[in-house]
Amino acid sequence: MKIGIIGAGNIGSALAGHFRKLGYSVLIANSRGPESLSQIAQMTGATPVAVTQAAKGVDLLIIAVPMKSVPLLPKNLFSELPATSPIVDTGNYYPLRDGVIPEIERGMIESQWTSQVLGRPVVKAFNNIVADSLVHKGLPKGSQGRIALPVSGDDLKSKQFVIALLDKIGFDAIDAGPLSESWRHQPGTPAYCPDPTIHQLALLLRRAKRDKAARNRDQAATLIAKLPPDFPAQELVRVARLSAGLDTLKPRTWIAVLHLGLTTLRAK
Ligand SMILES: NC(=O)c1ccc[n+]([C@@H]2O[C@H](COP(=O)([O-])OP(=O)(O)OC[C@H]3O[C@@H](n4cnc5c(N)ncnc54)[C@H](OP(=O)(O)O)[C@@H]3O)[C@@H](O)[C@H]2O)c1
Repeated sequence: MKIGIIGAGNIGSALAGHFRKLGYSVLIANSRGPESLSQIAQMTGATPVAVTQAAKGVDLLIIAVPMKSVPLLPKNLFSELPATSPIVDTGNYYPLRDGVIPEIERGMIESQWTSQVLGRPVVKAFNNIVADSLVHKGLPKGSQGRIALPVSGDDLKSKQFVIALLDKIGFDAIDAGPLSESWRHQPGTPAYCPDPTIHQLALLLRRAKRDKAARNRDQAATLIAKLPPDFPAQELVRVARLSAGLDTLKPRTWIAVLHLGLTTLRAK
C-alpha cells in the first residue's frame, strides 16, 4: 500500500506515523518543500516529497491542509492519481483561521466545497478527532471504550477502504452517509472531537443541529484562540465530552472545565 499525504502538520504527521507502523509506504508533502520535512521524516518514517509527487500513483491520498490552502493546491495534482484511489479530506472550516469562504457561509457543506474546488470526489474522515487522540488513543478491535470516527462520502468502496484503514490504526468507524450529511461531524456539532464509542457516535450524529453548528464553532474557536499553545488537548476533549452529554459526573471533567475557564479569564 502506498499512501500520499498533503499537509505535514498535526493531522498529516499523526496519520503518517500510523501508516508507517502498518508497514505502508508513505509520501508526505507540505507547502515549503521536502527539504523542510526532515524532522517529520525522522519522526514518522514517511518520505518527504513535493506536493504533486504525493499524489503520484498512490492507493490513497489524504488532504490535511487548512481549508484556506485547498484552492492553492496545484491544478495538475491528480494527473497521475489513479481514478480508483480515494481522496480523504480531513478539513474543517474555521473562518477565524481560513477567512470567509462565501459558499460555505451560504450553507454549502465543507467537504462538498473542497470536492468542488479539487474537481474530484472526496471522503470526509479524521476531521473530528484531535490530533493528540489520533496519535495516542487507538485501541485493538473489541476493546472497551474504543473511539469511533465517522466516514462520509458518496462512493461506498472508498468509504469501505477508509473504514478498514481506521480499524487497522485502532479506531471503530461508522459510515455516516453521503457527503451531503457530513455536516453532522463538522465543527460545532456534538460529534466534534468528544472521542465517542461507536454507539455514542451514532447518537451524536443523529443529534446534530445544522442551524446551531456555525455559532457553536465560532464560540469555541474564539475561546480556543485565547489558550496557550501547550493547553492540554485532552482537557479540551473532556469539555467536548461534557457538552456532548457523554460525561456529566466525572470530577476530572469539571476540573478541566474550571482549568479552561480560568485560563481564558487570565488570557489578554
Ligand atoms: N489539529 C487537529 O487536531 C485537527 C483535527 C482534525 C482535523 N483537522 C483539520 O485538518 C486540517 C489540517 O489541520 P492541522 O492541524 O494538521 O494543520 P497544521 O498543523 O496547521 O498543518 C497544516 C499543514 O498543511 C500544509 N500546507 C498548508 N498549505 C499548503 C499548500 N498550499 N500546499 C501544501 N501543503 C500545505 C502546511 O505546510 P507548511 O507548514 O509548509 O505551510 C502544514 O504541513 C485542517 O483543516 C484542520 O481543521 C485538524
